[in-house]
Amino acid sequence: MTDKIINIAVFASGNGSNAENIVRKLNVSGSRVRVSLIVSSRPDAGVVSRARSLGVSVEVITKAMFADGSATMAVLEKYNTDAIVLAGFLLMVPSYLVRRYRIVNIHPSLLPKFGGKGMYGSNVHRAVVEAGESETGITIHYVTEEYDKGEIIFQASAVVSPNDTPLSVEQKVHELEYKYFPEVIARIFAG
Ligand code: GRF
Repeated sequence: MTDKIINIAVFASGNGSNAENIVRKLNVSGSRVRVSLIVSSRPDAGVVSRARSLGVSVEVITKAMFADGSATMAVLEKYNTDAIVLAGFLLMVPSYLVRRYRIVNIHPSLLPKFGGKGMYGSNVHRAVVEAGESETGITIHYVTEEYDKGEIIFQASAVVSPNDTPLSVEQKVHELEYKYFPEVIARIFAG
């Protein structure tokens, strides 16, 4: 094993609470896996201001800009990106990135349940409650060119009770995300 630092680019489109949690847990002294860049697909997303207050470099790459592979690759190379983590990233990842980088995503359900197109954010938690599920959770998986179909790396579950609402389910899922996602990222990319 070398002591090389592994630079992660975290891609997010929204609030960015996971991106912030990953930075807080991984960008600490002694950590070999670090967030060197946050990429937002929207300039007004919460994750952009979170990145600025954390002092982490942030670049906005819109859907139109992702169509330009060489411009996107130039941005990632500028930050010596070794791997990509998706944390609430709503665009389809272009195939040129899937071919070039190891990419990991977190999905807020126990895949293969409640995955696929349109299944993101509160849509997932609403579907879980409407289906009367007794458990939900998180799935951390590799990204391929199909939504939510890549190899599963890690899952953790939480109980859903009859009193739960989509919001309370979301809170339970966030707790699992904050607890496990940074350590799973460190484990995957440090090895
Ligand atoms: C998380 O629930 C994550 O699992 C999903 O999108 C949500 C992002 O939340 N992919 P946040 O922006 O990190 O607060």
